[in-house]
Amino acid sequence: MANDPLETFKAAQRAGWAHFTPLQAITTEPAAQLVKFAGIRSGQRVLDVACGTGVVSVTAARLGAKVTGLELTPELLTAARDNARIASVDVAWHEGDVEALPFDPNAFDVVVSQYGHMFGPRPDVTVREMLRVLKPGGVIAFSTWPPELFVGRVFALTAKYMPPPPPGVSPPPQWGDPNIVRERLGTAVKDLQFDRRTMIVPALSVRHYREMFERTAGPVLKLVELLTVSDPAKLETFRNEAETLIAEYFGDNVLRQGYLMSRAVKA
Ligand SMILES: C[S@@+](CC[C@H](N)C(=O)[O-])C[C@H]1O[C@@H](n2cnc3c(N)ncnc32)[C@H](O)[C@@H]1O
Repeated sequence: MANDPLETFKAAQRAGWAHFTPLQAITTEPAAQLVKFAGIRSGQRVLDVACGTGVVSVTAARLGAKVTGLELTPELLTAARDNARIASVDVAWHEGDVEALPFDPNAFDVVVSQYGHMFGPRPDVTVREMLRVLKPGGVIAFSTWPPELFVGRVFALTAKYMPPPPPGVSPPPQWGDPNIVRERLGTAVKDLQFDRRTMIVPALSVRHYREMFERTAGPVLKLVELLTVSDPAKLETFRNEAETLIAEYFGDNVLRQGYLMSRAVKA
């Protein structure tokens, strides 16, 4: 529906994430961590939600899993197909929305998402869909950005400068809080476990990092696009605040981005 605020929101997400491909250089290593944490084995049917350029999908497929990757942004699926070709693995790629998964109930043994399902605007709808397509006894596992650590704080800073999202849209980093994860998965799962890791991001200076994320990270890219036209002075203030935040996590030419991994079994 053209005037549906949620559809407009998702269209903006799709446009914002279209330039994410260079960041696969830094999401590649955590992909192996998530595949290991989820316990993915050869022969399992695996769904990678919001798969981006397919770093988790290809890692799981290299182990012999039968992988399906679902992604909102078509440009990233082009890169994902190329990654599968280079690695000589088969993955079934689908353009789609985590809030309306085009799969049958109980279709997968494992459902994973790396920094992805957290962008589904309505967590209750996202959880319902991910658990619907997972078989009972199957594993759901995801990596997310905690609100109190660097990436979560970047999202909060970005949100402060953006117009408010439509009603019902939750801040993505809420998915990085173990208490909220426990509440959202509720009694639909058992054996909920957490782990924490740090992603290491090379950067030549604080400003190198800021420019890199302005060009690649969906929500930040959209904000910079907006303020460049509407309010250059406000953009300057945002950039100063962003650099102060980046500086807190920068040292020895790397940025340390802590993340949370969650895993549970569908009851
Ligand atoms: C930070 S990227 C992560 C990509 C990939 N999983 C990785 O680890 O490299 C977030 C991804 O979520 C996707 N996304 C955002 N909203 C979505 C939705 N409603 N349904 C499916 N994917 C979505 C974006 O297009 C983007 O590829």
